[in-house]
Amino acid sequence: MLEWFAIDMIKQAGELIRRKIDENYEVERKTGKGDLVTEIDRAVEQLIVRRIQSRFPDHHIIGEEGMAPQPDDLSGTVWFVDPIDGTLNFIHQKRMFAISVAIMIDGVIEYGFVYDVMADELFVARRGRGATLNGRTLVPIQEHHVRDAFLSMNATWVTPNHQIAPEILAPIVRDSIGTRAHGAASLELAWLAAGRVDGYITMRNMPWDYAAGKLLVEEVGGRVVSLYGEKVRYEGKTSVLAGSETFVKDVVKHYVIAKGATPEVRPDLQIEKNTNYDNVRDLLILANPNEAMVREQYAVGETFEALLGGELVGVYMLVERERGKMELVNIAVKPERQNQTIGQRMLQDAIRRAETTGASELIVCTGNSSVMQLRFYQQAGFRFESVERDYFPNHGYEPIEEDGLALRDRICLSRSL
Ligand code: IPD
Ligand code: CA
Ligand code: CA
Repeated sequence: MLEWFAIDMIKQAGELIRRKIDENYEVERKTGKGDLVTEIDRAVEQLIVRRIQSRFPDHHIIGEEGMAPQPDDLSGTVWFVDPIDGTLNFIHQKRMFAISVAIMIDGVIEYGFVYDVMADELFVARRGRGATLNGRTLVPIQEHHVRDAFLSMNATWVTPNHQIAPEILAPIVRDSIGTRAHGAASLELAWLAAGRVDGYITMRNMPWDYAAGKLLVEEVGGRVVSLYGEKVRYEGKTSVLAGSETFVKDVVKHYVIAKGATPEVRPDLQIEKNTNYDNVRDLLILANPNEAMVREQYAVGETFEALLGGELVGVYMLVERERGKMELVNIAVKPERQNQTIGQRMLQDAIRRAETTGASELIVCTGNSSVMQLRFYQQAGFRFESVERDYFPNHGYEPIEEDGLALRDRICLSRSL
């Protein structure tokens, strides 16, 4: 019922746009010359808001043009509405823009609709029931790596900007088979769900841009996360990385994390001093299975825990190795939270805290087989200091292999503070 109501409303809004597109209409700048709103954007949102309010007075609406009162939270039923997604395309190209509508019920997006008005293509997703294009079921997404992906990506982000270093995104453009900047987030996600592109990346989307498209992609088996591999929240702006499971992992692991990109501001990652060994024991043992040594370090050093929305996700310790030299030991991230930049943020935190102790040098040691860690520390400014051959077998560590290499030698790196 909700679905038919929404489709009828969206089709009516599409009619309105098609009627008005060739008329003269007012255009206003919002934040800059590329961020415009027309009186048609407002008229369309008005139409949608009126229809929802008269049929479902207890529903809330979060629309880009703010035609309905903003709810305080996301409880109950919330509609995310972008009356024209791709306003620049609407004005200049008179095509390739969409009406994007998503319905969230008790915090979960249940329906997503993206309507390409000029092509008359309606993409619909119902959570758990798949996705369709003009009534035809969309087939599951195909797995792609960056190297064989055809991408949709906003070109702005490969030039100097405040959100991300261009050198993070430029290699993705270089390595993919082709890149297009289509200029309408919801449509780019819908096209991804329909297999017309293999990935979509942007640094700044709002919930009304991606909520509907995200469900479409998920309903064909794809993933939509932030560029740092984190869950996207429906509050405020976020980066968006969408594609098959393989594509998303490839981007996060090999392009973003490996290049040491700084994550978006995530106020909910808190790093605090730990006061209870038992709370962090399992994570510490993950970093160093030698518990006797860990307990000794715990007793002489300081331990910090990383909490994400209250959940313990990481830990590290700082111990004074000798006067003026601090050592970072036992840094660990909960396995299911790895590849989400938590380790990087803890490392930056450790550097800051070590600086405040007045030390002039921070040391960190790892194994010869920990290739990712060796890269991770060097990217944060650490240089090789010493190698202790056969340290691990000589100190009773079980033989292990990582990346096809046996763990044998201890490598210490240092960084001036
Ligand atoms: C914009 C488009 C654009 C995306 C921006 C959005 P608008 O929406 O979707 O492709 O890069 O982030 O704001 O302003 O045309 O509705
Ligand atoms: Ca938009
Ligand atoms: Ca818009």
